[in-house]
Amino acid sequence: MVKTLKDIDIENKKVIIRCDFNVPIENNHIIDDKRIISSLETINYCLSKNCKIILMSHLGRIKEENDLKKNDLRIVAKRLSEVLKIDFKFINKTRGKELEDAINKMKPKQIILMQNTRYEDLIGKKESTNDSELSSYWASLGDVFINDAFATAHRAHASNIGIASHLPNAIGFLVEKELAHLEELKCPEKPFTVILGGKKVSDKIGVIENLITKVDYLLIGGGMAFTFLKAEGYKTGMSIIDDENIEFCKKILKKYEDKIILPVDVRVNKEFKNEGTIKQRDITEIDDNEMGLDLGEKTTANFEKILSKSKTVFWNGPLGVYELENFKIATDKILNYLVDNNIKTILGGGDIVASAKNAGVIDKIYYASTGGGATLEYLEGKELPGLVE
Ligand code: 3PG
Repeated sequence: MVKTLKDIDIENKKVIIRCDFNVPIENNHIIDDKRIISSLETINYCLSKNCKIILMSHLGRIKEENDLKKNDLRIVAKRLSEVLKIDFKFINKTRGKELEDAINKMKPKQIILMQNTRYEDLIGKKESTNDSELSSYWASLGDVFINDAFATAHRAHASNIGIASHLPNAIGFLVEKELAHLEELKCPEKPFTVILGGKKVSDKIGVIENLITKVDYLLIGGGMAFTFLKAEGYKTGMSIIDDENIEFCKKILKKYEDKIILPVDVRVNKEFKNEGTIKQRDITEIDDNEMGLDLGEKTTANFEKILSKSKTVFWNGPLGVYELENFKIATDKILNYLVDNNIKTILGGGDIVASAKNAGVIDKIYYASTGGGATLEYLEGKELPGLVE
């Protein structure tokens, strides 16, 4: 069993907390700070135990020099200082004297956030390959390691399993909470319905294969629905198609035809944009020059009927092109339906969680995971390497 924060002695210690502050940023602005807010419980607990706290996180991916500026963690430091409401230090380094001196001067209840751990990827991918020199160096900066980066749990990097291999360690409250909620999906109250959307079937094959035997219904929307529809023999016009996975769709549809529910109508446009000749089409009527960008009213009503009898729902991926105002209708309608009818719903994946936030319902949802890839890999039944003991 992995230890949890309350199982280990952290009082008065130098605690390294690995968070996942990999937040979406647009025009130099954090558009969703959920991952920052979700880290506060663990940080505040460590403060209450008189710890000196060293925070670590990655942001984006660092492949070349240009990526450094784009993924500077300072923007997170600014938001974190607003929500923590206490002063803390940002150190623009991932190693070296400046960082070590700052840590040596820390007093209890003080916090340091170091620069993006993936800056160490620029030369030799040290963070992402779990370089042993790097992980033992980072471990030397603290007494105890807390992994609270659930969204990074599908990675085996120096800043998670690497440090953990050198120090007494435990998972933080966020990881504990995430695992407890996802665990509920192993033995859900039935009927259990899974809604899957998003672009590509290929991203969801593992989840479909692992969950299909457990679910009562699998509702398919988003771009991936068109690959399923094509597998059923429908003409899908210019809709996005994942040709390599048509055979997979055929097989799974044949085996589980009673469980898999596909759209019966969709909203189409002639171009991938918000304005244009938008029409509602039955799936038998999609023209060659049209593409499906959202689900239609009949499909939405069908989905609501199934959801009305569901006791547990897991949802990954929006049902339409959520970034376009005219094609987020089905996603918003179903999100509101789940909330209005108090249906126990777990959301997993950045896009659907952002959609729920955008629709103003996020606080009424039973649980919204901070994980993207990590949540999906967990639901594929894979072990999360970042959380092994
Ligand atoms: C995520 O957003 O899924 C995590 O922060 C992991 O990021 P990565 O896919 O770049 O490893």
